[in-house]
Amino acid sequence: MNREELKAEILRIKKEKNTVILAHYYQEEDIQEIADFVGDSYGLSVEASKTEAPVILFCGVHFMAETAKILNPDKKVLLPDLNAGCSLADGCKYDDFKAFKDEHPDHEVVMYINCSAEVKSISDYICTSSNAVKIVNSIPADKKVIFAPDRNLGRYVKKATGRDLVLWNGKCIVHEAFSFDKIMKLILEYPEADLIAHPESTEEVIELAQFVGSTAAMIKYVKESPKEQFIIATEAGILHKMKEGVPEKTLIPAPVDEDNTCACSECAFMKMNTLQKVYDCLVNESPSIDLTKEVMDAARLPIERMIQITESAK
Ligand code: 13P
Ligand code: SF4
Repeated sequence: MNREELKAEILRIKKEKNTVILAHYYQEEDIQEIADFVGDSYGLSVEASKTEAPVILFCGVHFMAETAKILNPDKKVLLPDLNAGCSLADGCKYDDFKAFKDEHPDHEVVMYINCSAEVKSISDYICTSSNAVKIVNSIPADKKVIFAPDRNLGRYVKKATGRDLVLWNGKCIVHEAFSFDKIMKLILEYPEADLIAHPESTEEVIELAQFVGSTAAMIKYVKESPKEQFIIATEAGILHKMKEGVPEKTLIPAPVDEDNTCACSECAFMKMNTLQKVYDCLVNESPSIDLTKEVMDAARLPIERMIQITESAK
C-alpha cells in the first residue's frame, strides 16, 4: 500500500473498531492527519480522560500512552512502538527518584508528566509545560517543593513563581540540542522575527525568547501575534499544525548544534511511530500498555489533581 492507501485504510479500520487516535504535535505529518485529536501533553491527557471510545491508539511516547491508560484503566490503550521513550523519563528511574524523595521527606513533589507511571505513583502533583507555573502556585507558600525531572522547566518555573524549588537534574535531549550561536545568527538575519521557545530549552535560549510556552501555547502565539516571522525552538513536528493556521507567515525552525538532515531538532523517540506501525497496531490491537492496578490507582491521584487545578483556574 502507498501512504495515501495506508491512511485511508487506517481511517476505515479505526471507525470499524471504534478506536480513537490521539497524536502529539511532534508526530510525523501523515500521523497527525489521520488522528482524531492532535495536541500537547495536557490537551491529550484531557482528551484521554473524556473519550468514550473503548480503544485508544496513542501516537506519542510511552509516558503519554501510560497516562491515557491510568485515566482509562478498563480501556485498551495501544502504542505503535513500545520503545518510544523519552530522555526525561529515562533519566528519572523509580528507585533513584524514591531515594531522592526520601532525602527530602518534608517536600511536596511536583512531577512533570514526562516520567513513568511508577514515578507518578509517588508524586503529589503532575504538571505539564502548559500548567507547571499554575500547579506550583497552587501549593501553599510555606510548603517546600521538589520539581522533577526537567531542570530547564524547573528553572523556568522557579523564576516565574519565585519559589525555592529543589530540582532534579534531568534534560530533554531534543531541546538541549539547539545551538545558541546559530540562533543568534538567525536573529541577526531576521531582526523582525520573534524567537519562541518551549520551556524544556536551555536557560540562555529561554532568556532570549520573546515567548515561552507549551507546544499548544506556541501555536496559539504564532496565530494571534501581529508579527510575520518566527524562529521556533521546539521539535520540528510542530511546524505542520503551526503552518495550517498561518500559511502566509514565515516559520524558521531553530537549528541544532550538529548537522542532521533538516538541521532542525527532531525527537527520535516520537519518530519511532510510523504510519505502517500505526496501521499494524490498529489491525493487531497490539502492542498495548499494561500497568498494575496498584500503580494506576496511585498515579491517577496526582494527574486528576493537575486537571482539577488547571480547569478550575480557567
Ligand atoms: P508539551 O506537549 O507539553 O508542549 O511538551 C512537549 C514535549 O516535549 C512532550 O514530550
Ligand atoms: Fe522526551 Fe524531549 Fe522527546 Fe519530548 S521531545 S518526548 S521531552 S525526549
